[in-house]
Amino acid sequence: MKSIFSFVAVLALMRLTTYAVPSAKIAIDAGHPAHPISPTLWGIFFEDINMSTDGGIYPELIRNRSFEDADTPTDWKFTSVGDGHSEAAISPADVQAKPPVPPLNAFNRKSLRVKVDGAFTLQNQGYWGMNIVSGDGYTLKLAARATDGFNSPLTATLMGADGKVLARGEISGFGDDWKYHTLALTPTAGDPKAKLEISGAGKGVLFLDMVSLVPDKTWKNHGLRTDLAESLAGLHPQFLRVPGGWWVVGDDFAHMNHWKNTIGDIDSRTPLWNIWGYNATQGLGFYEYLQLAEDLGAEPLFCINVGMSHKENIPLDRMDQWAQDALDAIEFANGPTNSIWGARRAAMGHPAPFNLKYMEVGNENGGPAYRERRPLLVNAIRAAYPEIHLITDTYWVGESYPKDQHPEIIDEHFYDSPEWFMRNANHFDAYDRSGPKVFVGEYAVTRGCGLGNLRGAIGEAAFMTGLERNSDLVIMASYAPLLVNLNHRAWNPDLINFDSAHWYGLPSYYVQKLFAENRGDLYLPTEVQSPDTKPPAGGGKIGVGTWNTAAEFKDFLVTAPDGKVLFASDFSHGTQGWKLLGDGANWETHNGVLRQKAEDEFIRALVEDRKWTDYTITLKARKMSGAEGFMILFNVVNDDDHNWWNIGGWGNTQDAIEGGGTLDGKPSHIETGRWYDLKLTVAGKHVKCWLDGRLLHDVDFGGDNIVKALYATAATDAPTGDVIVKVVNAGEQPLATEVAVTGARLTSNGTATVLTSEKSTDENSLANPMKVSPKTEPVTISGTTFMRSFPGNSFTVLRLQTR
Ligand code: AHR
Repeated sequence: MKSIFSFVAVLALMRLTTYAVPSAKIAIDAGHPAHPISPTLWGIFFEDINMSTDGGIYPELIRNRSFEDADTPTDWKFTSVGDGHSEAAISPADVQAKPPVPPLNAFNRKSLRVKVDGAFTLQNQGYWGMNIVSGDGYTLKLAARATDGFNSPLTATLMGADGKVLARGEISGFGDDWKYHTLALTPTAGDPKAKLEISGAGKGVLFLDMVSLVPDKTWKNHGLRTDLAESLAGLHPQFLRVPGGWWVVGDDFAHMNHWKNTIGDIDSRTPLWNIWGYNATQGLGFYEYLQLAEDLGAEPLFCINVGMSHKENIPLDRMDQWAQDALDAIEFANGPTNSIWGARRAAMGHPAPFNLKYMEVGNENGGPAYRERRPLLVNAIRAAYPEIHLITDTYWVGESYPKDQHPEIIDEHFYDSPEWFMRNANHFDAYDRSGPKVFVGEYAVTRGCGLGNLRGAIGEAAFMTGLERNSDLVIMASYAPLLVNLNHRAWNPDLINFDSAHWYGLPSYYVQKLFAENRGDLYLPTEVQSPDTKPPAGGGKIGVGTWNTAAEFKDFLVTAPDGKVLFASDFSHGTQGWKLLGDGANWETHNGVLRQKAEDEFIRALVEDRKWTDYTITLKARKMSGAEGFMILFNVVNDDDHNWWNIGGWGNTQDAIEGGGTLDGKPSHIETGRWYDLKLTVAGKHVKCWLDGRLLHDVDFGGDNIVKALYATAATDAPTGDVIVKVVNAGEQPLATEVAVTGARLTSNGTATVLTSEKSTDENSLANPMKVSPKTEPVTISGTTFMRSFPGNSFTVLRLQTR
């Protein structure tokens, strides 16, 4: 399976004689299938991260609809118009007051109190603008009550970003008690950045709550944004892991995820601060996740809090509630309609059970606290619901999974560089087959991949060939995270990127899709012979930086290996051409010097859009004050993905190359006020640094990254009889490969679906969503051994027809 030999000499020959001698070989034994491929192998992990839910797949268009998010009307813009003196403020409920101020309901205790004195407007832009589509229906629903004589109608207007009226209607009839009002709006024009305005006039007091605006059209009429739900369906997931991730765990006791707070009427679901940096309405709750799984044809996999948050754990003698919550979750999903929780499910509209089979006990939990708490849930669930497949966490550095209660399935997570994933394509080959099955619940290339480029996708595809080969053991796998609102990226990269109206998938999206669409039923032993390959040179922006230090820079020059000047800056035009980054940064230029005066962390000045891979940077730098020295940045792809030479780092004690780790650290100390001569040469992944003419570093940080170029796996597809061959070429060059299939009667027909692009750094975007996307072509072969050239940086799915 893993027989490997070096073809470097043959590769050189191949450049002259394409196809005469294969550079690589794939041998498939179709006569002796090794094992069935797990039918649940490819699924998705949906976490409420990156505003994937509110402002994303949950299509509520109003932000802070129930006014619970803060003590001020955040996300609402109130204006007293003309001569009026109207005011608005958040009003907490006060049932003891005389007269009482009643909440909308016991769980929704704040509302907006408008003291109306003349005309006013109240605007909400939703989540970076509302996507209002001409001709589509929208329903505005709000709760209102009025006192002190207010009884004028309110006007609701859907308005373009430029103020153009898209739709308008009136709401009237307010009394002392809370009452819901609905208004159907059909815009005559559209705008992806529209807003809602509620306007009124008169005198008195108006209370508003649960102001909700949703499109009438939702996916399968189950309340989700259609295009984003379809983007999930396009992945053909066989399971849906929800709702986190860290979102399940929370940072502290108050922010643990409790599914019971996410069901029932949406106006009784209290918003919760999400660990990823926003308030979550919980409008997409446990019921809606189960419904989504059903609509996707996927097995729901519910991840439940195990009495642990990142900072606090529940005392053991209070864990009964957590065990009971787990039992109740199963009853809610599967119980008969005459059970307490089954009845709640039926009341929400789904009398039939959802047939939940998988539950994960915690997320990335481990250590002694997990070993104590996990059995409390596991024992309770196994006693009441022995048919439920329980998943155990493995995440604890230096510790294996807990062995008590014999875990049935363990969850492993992987985030790393493309080369790590390639090297680990055989990660599971040697796993003990008598132990638990494996769920790879989260994995993604997160380093050296820009905002999610082809190279990252190729790394994942190589790893996934190993998951398929080991799918007797690895029964489920899901990429993470799934969705990101481009206006709120808390994690990079993310499979599906969207704004209010559009989405695009990373190249990784198409890898996931192709694996799922071409899963196959029986794994066929596949031997691969491949040459080695080096990772492509990085490239990226360059610049200077400081960390808790004020410093000056001058005589900045970048030259090519042949001496040609690529870039020079004497700062005579100020900071023109430079991008200045970092909270609190304080840059100025003076007499040919670039000065950074703030003593804050992570301050950078970058030269934009430079794609050089081989160059020399020279400059002078001096420290003015502060804790450290200065930095030269190179290979800057984004904030998470960059290299720098850190001179006087670690409190002015060390000098090293950084980027995905620290290389070649050496003691150092930078004197304040002294100009230093700095020189750095970059040749692909090879970097040299000189300080005052003295060579300090000579490192090759790609040296450890030599990997195999070719990865392959094969399977038979029961419905069609096809032999499916998945091939990854991680090298930069096309690879002429001999593909030999024994034990199958191939016809001459087939197809090849190829995912590749001009450069390994290519990415998709809203402007160019399909730049890196698969193309299918017919393939004609003769015999059972044939030659095929797999393009550099490619993932290919061959479907070979059999007789
Ligand atoms: O996928 C993003 C995060 O990564 C998840 O919330 C967490 O489980 C993991 O560490």
